Amino acid sequence: MILLTGATGYIGSHTWVELLARGYKVVGVDNFSNSNPLVLKRIKSLTQMEPIFHELDVGNPNLLDVFEKYPITAVIHFAALKAVGESVQKPVEYYQNNLLGLLNLLKLCRSHGVHQFVFSSSATVYHPENPVPYQENMRLGSGSPYGWSKVMSEQILRDFEMAYPALKVAYLRYFNPVGAHESGMIGEDPRGIPNNLMPYISQVAVGKRDYLSVYGGDWPTIDGTGVRDYIHVMDLAEGHVVALQYLAEKQQSITVNLGVGQGTSVLQLLSAFEIASGRKIPYRVVDRRAGDIAECYADVTLTHQLLNWKTKRSIDQMCLDAWRWQSKNPNGYES
Ligand code: UD1
Repeated sequence: MILLTGATGYIGSHTWVELLARGYKVVGVDNFSNSNPLVLKRIKSLTQMEPIFHELDVGNPNLLDVFEKYPITAVIHFAALKAVGESVQKPVEYYQNNLLGLLNLLKLCRSHGVHQFVFSSSATVYHPENPVPYQENMRLGSGSPYGWSKVMSEQILRDFEMAYPALKVAYLRYFNPVGAHESGMIGEDPRGIPNNLMPYISQVAVGKRDYLSVYGGDWPTIDGTGVRDYIHVMDLAEGHVVALQYLAEKQQSITVNLGVGQGTSVLQLLSAFEIASGRKIPYRVVDRRAGDIAECYADVTLTHQLLNWKTKRSIDQMCLDAWRWQSKNPNGYES
């Protein structure tokens, strides 16, 4: 049985559905700090299965009960705080939540003989001075407490592996997950004003916001706007399944990028979304956002080699699926 932490979040919920579709047994935990309990109903109607779920914080000692109750063989650890700007204001909360949660989980893995661990890392672990595309062996370092919490989590896991060699870890460094399940029943449902580009564009398209602020038109990129590696959330979900299979078969740890390997600019994404939605999306170019970089995209050579797997979905598909979710659920899960 697979334990998913952060199971009702954006990436957690999509991975949950993918695992169930592939026949895995799953138990999910989440404290709903950044997700909606209605996700569970959607997962049920989408998969025709009753999701097994416990409302719990990963830092809570009661997580023990979950390990006692279910025959857990692998953990996928999504649960974490993830807003870069907020982490600068609240570093203690970020380190406490992201690091103590991980430590609690690792102690339980050790005491219960769990040997497979998939960790949600991020492209933000690459030092911003690295040249693109980012390769797995490049220098690490970050510009925010959130980013450092991911660098430190990776280090904790590597130290833990040395002391407890039976544990094998997949360090999955996500680039920019976007889109939604093709059913339009689950998707990204940010609270308040979205920080990230795709949910912001979706909300402008659906009429909830007036226009998109494009953060900087003078970056040294193809059209002056920031370039990122957008990956469809269902490709990302599949990447987790493939990583689990790798851990089970090869019994080796692995550190890989999960991206498409191609950069897309803000204006390119905007125009793809206009086509997908059939709506005009007004925008204004404003100052650069603090902490942003010009370009961030993955080298996926190692991912292809080791996992023998590639992403399948295009930018157009990402926009179509994001739009299906947003237009069917203009107010997210509360719609
Ligand atoms: C951000 C986080 C990163 C996190 C990732 C999760 C920052 C600095 N980085 O990455 O740590 O892992 O989200 O997906 O927050 N943009 C606009 N207008 C907007 C929003 C974004 O022009 O309203 C631009 C940004 O300047 C950037 C691109 O769109 O060039 C993507 O931004 P975003 O979706 O926030 O992702 P990242 O900054 O790559």
